[in-house]
Amino acid sequence: MRLTASELLRQPRDREDGNGHVGRRVGVFGAGYAGLVTAACLAEMGHTVVAAEKDAEAVARLSAGEPTIHEPGLRELLAANLEAGRLKFTTRAEDAVGASDIVFVCVGTPPRSDGRADLCQVEEVARTIAPLLDGYKLIVEKSTVPARTARWIEWTIRRLAGSEREFDVASNPEFLREGSAVRDFLEPDRIVIGADSARARSLLLELYKASVDCPIVLTSVTTAEFIKQAANAFLASKISFINVVSDLCDALDVDVTTVARAIGLDPRIGRHFLKAGLGFGGSCLPKDLSALINVAEDHGVDVGMLREVERINNARIERLLAKIERALWVLQHKVIAVLGVTFKPDTDDIRGAPSLTVVPWLRAAGADLRIFDPAGMPKLKALFPADDRLTYAATPLEAVRDANALVVLTDWDEFRLLDLKLVRSLMRTPIIVDGRNLFTPAEIQAAGFEYYSLGHGDVTPSAERQGTRI
Ligand SMILES: NC(=O)c1ccc[n+]([C@@H]2O[C@H](COP(=O)([O-])OP(=O)(O)OC[C@H]3O[C@@H](n4cnc5c(N)ncnc54)[C@H](O)[C@@H]3O)[C@@H](O)[C@H]2O)c1
Repeated sequence: MRLTASELLRQPRDREDGNGHVGRRVGVFGAGYAGLVTAACLAEMGHTVVAAEKDAEAVARLSAGEPTIHEPGLRELLAANLEAGRLKFTTRAEDAVGASDIVFVCVGTPPRSDGRADLCQVEEVARTIAPLLDGYKLIVEKSTVPARTARWIEWTIRRLAGSEREFDVASNPEFLREGSAVRDFLEPDRIVIGADSARARSLLLELYKASVDCPIVLTSVTTAEFIKQAANAFLASKISFINVVSDLCDALDVDVTTVARAIGLDPRIGRHFLKAGLGFGGSCLPKDLSALINVAEDHGVDVGMLREVERINNARIERLLAKIERALWVLQHKVIAVLGVTFKPDTDDIRGAPSLTVVPWLRAAGADLRIFDPAGMPKLKALFPADDRLTYAATPLEAVRDANALVVLTDWDEFRLLDLKLVRSLMRTPIIVDGRNLFTPAEIQAAGFEYYSLGHGDVTPSAERQGTRI
């Protein structure tokens, strides 16, 4: 039976479960977003995990039980598993390799300037592991990589470690979503195991089978690598599709939220990822889509459709900026409250977030900004320090006080629950530009705001809903 995250937390923490499954010795390279969640959750599942992370400050914080990312449930998992002695963080690669039979590669694969995946971190891990092999090891790609990367890892290790060393390279792509990463890891929809040897396959099956109950897709290494990229390309396409629909809704004065809900009730379509707004951001979808397009074009495959998905997404922020200008006309000296800086709610991750474009653009246009986000402000502050024209507020209400407009960039629940009448009473002019379609035109109108959204039709000063053609 599948256990919920909280049930798992209450499980006995012995290395052997009631069915005689013994926890494995696991090494993890990279304790960033994916690696930290992987390490903590594998420890939670009863395995003994040593995570090697280059960033010594992160290792110190994690070893003290302090999560380096904002992710629901992670703090509790860290505390419990550090205390149980099943989870350790180190800067020393040899400690992670020496203490493990299975080594997960969870380092970053950021985009290069040409849109391809930068595999320097992956290659470095392969070079680091090679001389440390001291018996059979299974090396598992969890980083999202272009198909056939595992072959390069294998060749790199083989060249450096010599032919007598025993190892396999497998792929086990990660489908967790930031904001619900712990739950997604512990209660996955599916697990994809790409392994080309029986030994690798059975090790990974054993690793997961004892504690996770979901469909398991057993396949080749290259297929597993490709599944992850194809999954992200599909998710990106779904978002760009609904965003095109939302532009049409704007033009036709039709509510995209209702359209999306009705479309999504068809099980062939499904309701997830049909939220119109600022499009997809974050550290994964944009880079994975771009990497896939590049691989496809290398192989002469026509991926014009995916290029269009990318183009539509890139235009979303421009559309929002045009709405802000439509709402405020001249931006010079206008006070704008910006609610939300993370790329999605329930995380502090600002990589690929609209705020990274919107904040400097508004500043360049001469606006004064008051910014609030429940988790992402420290990271944004590091890029855009406070000054006399940019302040970071302690609450959403502090941010909106005396503002000429409120711009929503992230759909945190906290913003949805704001008392709109109170917000209106605090603002200089009651104008909301909603990049996430957080509010409904009806509630906005009832609270007396002008409202500019991406797919709801605008509520303009004439108090009539109008189709927008910008
Ligand atoms: N973030 C997500 O939600 C998510 C979900 C699924 C898959 N992924 C994939 O997982 C991979 C990692 O993503 P992330 O968001 O965790 O990136 P990240 O940048 O947050 O983490 C990477 C970490 O690896 C560390 N690192 C780099 N080289 C190292 C080395 N040689 N030894 C030890 N540590 C090293 C870095 O210091 C960093 O902390 C990417 O390929 C990404 O596409 C991420």
